[in-house]
Amino acid sequence: MTDLSLSGPVPDEATDGVWLACIECGETVAPFEEPTYKCANCGSLLEARYEDYHDLDAFSGSGVWRYDAAMPVDDGVTIQEGNTPLYEAPTIEAETGVADLRIKHEGMNPTGSFKDRGMTVGVRVAERIGVGRLACASTGNTSAALAAYGARADKETLVLLPEGKVAEGKLAQASLHGATMLEVDGNFDDCLDIVSELADRGEVYLLNSLNPFRLEGQKTIGLEIIEQFLDQTGDVPDRIVLPVGNAGNTAALHKAFRELVEAEVLEDDEVPVLTGVQAAGAAPMVEAIQEGNDTVTRWEDVETRATAIRIGEPVNAPKAIPAIRQTGGTAVAVEDEEITRAQRDLAADGIGVEPASAASVAGLRKLRTAGEIGADEQVVCLTTGHLLKDPEAAAAAGSDPQTVPNSVSAVLDAAGD
Ligand code: F0G
Repeated sequence: MTDLSLSGPVPDEATDGVWLACIECGETVAPFEEPTYKCANCGSLLEARYEDYHDLDAFSGSGVWRYDAAMPVDDGVTIQEGNTPLYEAPTIEAETGVADLRIKHEGMNPTGSFKDRGMTVGVRVAERIGVGRLACASTGNTSAALAAYGARADKETLVLLPEGKVAEGKLAQASLHGATMLEVDGNFDDCLDIVSELADRGEVYLLNSLNPFRLEGQKTIGLEIIEQFLDQTGDVPDRIVLPVGNAGNTAALHKAFRELVEAEVLEDDEVPVLTGVQAAGAAPMVEAIQEGNDTVTRWEDVETRATAIRIGEPVNAPKAIPAIRQTGGTAVAVEDEEITRAQRDLAADGIGVEPASAASVAGLRKLRTAGEIGADEQVVCLTTGHLLKDPEAAAAAGSDPQTVPNSVSAVLDAAGD
């Protein structure tokens, strides 16, 4: 039985008021002694736990480390991640007909995705544990962030990528920041199988979202949303709609809100409803939620234009399924065409995102049309990566340039004046 309650006695394994606990069997683990990703007792997922949970007054400064009081370490390997904008999106708000809509644009992080929030914490913990080589499997963004944060920490980085399925901008980032890049003849899930095995053998330190410390960094998305939404509207949002790949953010946002409940900042019934969106060609989480299952079944064949979320087995499902259920949320699949339409709609409001990010807005539209999201709701859509991550997809969704002769009159003619 999954136990996500945060209160309880401080175990002997705690260091500086921090420890890891298994979400299934409750086994507790010392946080910084050796690399630990899963429960040695039952094999389930671990979660960071704290002696103290803080209300919003405990936070000052800007970015991820504004929330240092809620972090497992005092400071990070930082490139000034976090403090991303919470945008209005008037056209989409009017068209979908919800009471309030904001876009939390994580593409505005240093390497252009939310992954930076997890890496600032995870790479710092790697230093503290004293590991050598850092590694991840990635659909692209994790590799870009790991390469940059690894470089910043002067550590060797190894990234495993599904061959031919990673967007151009992400490859360029991993390459320039100096990661050892290996393209595997397989899917993301195959890459993760390999890198997990390397981690178990002690060859590398794993920085996929299976690493509980990464999710501690990513929980600051939730903390920022609450503070910014309160600031802009005076309210806590009713619902957060987000793209789902490995379901790390789904788990991390829920963690943020559970901590705010523990600190008596939020009432239980004020926690935003978590709503996950997957691409129809890679939707094992939607299948599990819609069929009422407690576990996901791996999809061996996955395909979508939103390559960032081209994932057949969301590793954080044991945390994310209860997160969606306990908040009264749901999960929905959207077609690639719906994703591209949402990417264009966001662009029309001046917000440039990669395809996976647009899935959140596509999901909002679908659930609103189906009447599952109400007209009275205050909604935040999470957009996870920047438009320039996948220039090919952006160019395909936009229009082509027109070639004109080298003259003012030709330019005026072509510009339609
Ligand atoms: N959006 C983008 C742009 C992503 O890169 C990812 C995951 C997700 C959404 C899904 O987030 O896993 O928390 O549900 N990208 C990983 C990577 C898998 O390797 O870059 P999640």
